[in-house]
Amino acid sequence: MNYKKNLMDKFVNRSARIGIVGLGYVGLPLAVAFAEAGFEVYGVDIDHEKVSCVQRGESHIQDIPSSQVARLVQNGKLHASTDFAVFADLDTASICVPTPLRKTGDPDVSYILAATKELSKYMHPGMVVVLESTSYPGTTREILLPELGENHSLVAGEDFFLAFSPERVDPGRKDWTTMTTPKVIGGITQNCSDVAAAYYAQALERIVPVSSAEAAEMTKLLENTFRMINIGLVNEMALMCGRLGIDVWEVIEAASTKPFGFMKFTPGPGLGGHCIPIDPLYLSWKLKSVKYTARFIELASEINTYMPRHVMSMVQDALNSVGKPVKGMKILALGVAYKPDIDDLRESPALDIIGLLMQKGAEVMYHDPHAPIIRQDPHYDLPEMYCVLDLMAAVRSADCVVIITNHSSYDYAAILDQAQLIVDTRNALGKFGRSHPKVFTL
Ligand SMILES: NC(=O)c1ccc[n+]([C@@H]2O[C@H](COP(=O)([O-])OP(=O)(O)OC[C@H]3O[C@@H](n4cnc5c(N)ncnc54)[C@H](O)[C@@H]3O)[C@@H](O)[C@H]2O)c1
Repeated sequence: MNYKKNLMDKFVNRSARIGIVGLGYVGLPLAVAFAEAGFEVYGVDIDHEKVSCVQRGESHIQDIPSSQVARLVQNGKLHASTDFAVFADLDTASICVPTPLRKTGDPDVSYILAATKELSKYMHPGMVVVLESTSYPGTTREILLPELGENHSLVAGEDFFLAFSPERVDPGRKDWTTMTTPKVIGGITQNCSDVAAAYYAQALERIVPVSSAEAAEMTKLLENTFRMINIGLVNEMALMCGRLGIDVWEVIEAASTKPFGFMKFTPGPGLGGHCIPIDPLYLSWKLKSVKYTARFIELASEINTYMPRHVMSMVQDALNSVGKPVKGMKILALGVAYKPDIDDLRESPALDIIGLLMQKGAEVMYHDPHAPIIRQDPHYDLPEMYCVLDLMAAVRSADCVVIITNHSSYDYAAILDQAQLIVDTRNALGKFGRSHPKVFTL
């Protein structure tokens, strides 16, 4: 059987049956993109709650409306299951499981391993498997190929097709979506690349093929390392400007007028999200195995990791300016998601900042229109916390308000008017705030 031709035909005539492993921030939008393109899609997740949510026609991802999921489920295009056995009858598997760090800071590929082992039980000739989870170069060839290919005597590029394609989704973004963002794909062999590219081309607007799975894996790491290092640089600029008494925001605004050779990054309270603080460490870990130290990554990571402590010392300075200690003071943390207008708290620097302030004896409350609850988290030394109900009453009662995430729904003029003291880590209050005596801007 010519599996390549068979699959290519199925993609074109929409008879291919699509499988997605992991229905999170990456997997659900991808499943929806394929279902919208006219394919029958099965999403498999070990999380019963997420699966039942999709089965009920609801979305747990802010960027995907429940009405869209409901329509696709009703039309029979989108299914969700906790049972990997569905893969016995599917043609594709796109793996979108988490890739966090261990406590030691080393990559945790246990989710990829677990998902691959489960998938392996239902592996059959003629399947295309694409890993989307960000990982170190070599993951697809070293972890997936032996389990899915060699264990079943299936030859990659002949009997089945294996590739890596990094997800580039940016939660909350409206101008670029899973469907419109160009998709880099690199296969284990040329045939693998061809089939994986044909698979994704059915649902996504532009495919960018590269010569190998490793090149695709490294592309994602370059993108995220670029961001992490530039954020580290601009955070250090903020620290340096602070020492020199220069307004870093004015400097950035002025530098941004250069029409070429400069790209604007802004300082903040630290890195957050599932990608930027973590992915570059996958690369530096891999490099250690070939006795190479990824110096830029380590340095930027050190600076970015320090930022929550810097914010805490800004709060101390602000309170000190009015003769108050941190201990026993009421602090209101405004915005706890890792970036504006989203509900994702993963790796958010707000969690570090709240934990540090609590350790110093402050009475911390928080407000975030997107996060009704902060779950108890021993990693950050945090108890379970609930969003304050009356924002402006909390603003008035707080000895200090710390703007951690600059959600667009906040009325910053009213907050400035009614707060006693403000630490603004995002320049949310702008030029006026920077010159205001009760505002301490990063
Ligand atoms: N979130 C982003 O903005 C983003 C952007 C680009 C790339 N990525 C990368 O994509 C990958 C997935 O990230 P995410 O944000 O979608 O994570 P997520 O936590 O939102 O979703 C992952 C899903 O996988 C499920 N899962 C875990 N183990 C499983 C298993 N063995 N079998 C089936 N399902 C399993 C989880 O229950 C969860 O629903 C990560 O490698 C991440 O680095 C994420």
